Amino acid sequence: MSLRERLSSLRQTLRDVAAPPSPVPSSVPAPAESQVVLRSVEHVERLPPEVLTTTSNVAYDWDYSAKRAELRTLYEKSKDLIWNARTDLDWSTNVDPESEIVADSFNPLFGTDVWRKLDRKTELPKLRRHMTSYILSNFLHGEQGALLATSQIVASAPTTDAKMYASAQVFDEARHVEAYDRYLTSKVELIYPPSKHLKQLLDTVLTDSRWDFKFLGMQILVEGVALGAFGLIHQTAQEPLIKRITHMIMQDEARHVAFGVMSLKGHYEGMDASELRDREEFIIESSRLLRDRFLAQEVWETVGLPQAECEAAAANSVMMKMFRKLLFSKIVPNVKRLGLLTPRVRRGFEELEVIEYESWEASA
Ligand SMILES: [Fe+2]
Ligand SMILES: [Fe+2]
Repeated sequence: MSLRERLSSLRQTLRDVAAPPSPVPSSVPAPAESQVVLRSVEHVERLPPEVLTTTSNVAYDWDYSAKRAELRTLYEKSKDLIWNARTDLDWSTNVDPESEIVADSFNPLFGTDVWRKLDRKTELPKLRRHMTSYILSNFLHGEQGALLATSQIVASAPTTDAKMYASAQVFDEARHVEAYDRYLTSKVELIYPPSKHLKQLLDTVLTDSRWDFKFLGMQILVEGVALGAFGLIHQTAQEPLIKRITHMIMQDEARHVAFGVMSLKGHYEGMDASELRDREEFIIESSRLLRDRFLAQEVWETVGLPQAECEAAAANSVMMKMFRKLLFSKIVPNVKRLGLLTPRVRRGFEELEVIEYESWEASA
């Protein structure tokens, strides 16, 4: 390609990036211009930027030869399967933010008395928009956590094999942030802050200096739950754009969980008892946080529903209990595969009522 052609192609790309969204298909009524201009993104609570202090190591590896073929294979796969959030998704899709974008069955109130009493014309559409935003906003913030944690792995991982794969994951996570942010901003027009349970877990993963805590917390736990949640959303979502976004992201997440399992394999064999205990406690505590992050307490207050009644209804909802348990279907087998299903962790999983997944097929 000549320099002139390259410049022309670059100019076209820049025009594409700057171009206004494509018109909606003629079968869907386009909103009036004034409506589009007037509706701007709402933030339930806009958090200020935040800086965490960490003490992670930065490791050089002067030997660039491949020593772990499976990590290089995963790296090659990542390069082959790169997609573009801007061009591979149909952003012209018209989305009604108050429709059932995410299946009602994901709402902790679904099937409860509180749900039955909701006004179908006013309260239900509003609750649907807030619940969609709550779920997707927490996915978005989790993606930022993954972006940051994986960039730390690039710096601290001791081998070139791990650094190169982790760098491919960093780029995956950037596209995930881009896709969820664009969907929330341009379609739902409402963003929630991270749930306190998710934020606490991300803070721990990002500030602990031990490299294996990053993999355990992010690739095995957070991404394990994300894979379970994305799978459920993908199967049940009614809205085609979010279904497609979830599908694209899920393909990447499966590689990320595989990276965690490959990196930690054998690491815990013969580990000193007190060191192992730290990991056991981390797994149990993090699993509790991940289970509780789906309770959606923040939503009830924001939409004006009775807080105590909603919390009680959500805690006892059969659907929610089933949903939370299913989310652990990837985590429990992988923890077992890593040799971490010790008697203490087993008791923790029994208390969480998720031990039944130990015999399920592990990811990766
Ligand atoms: Fe991701
Ligand atoms: Fe990921």
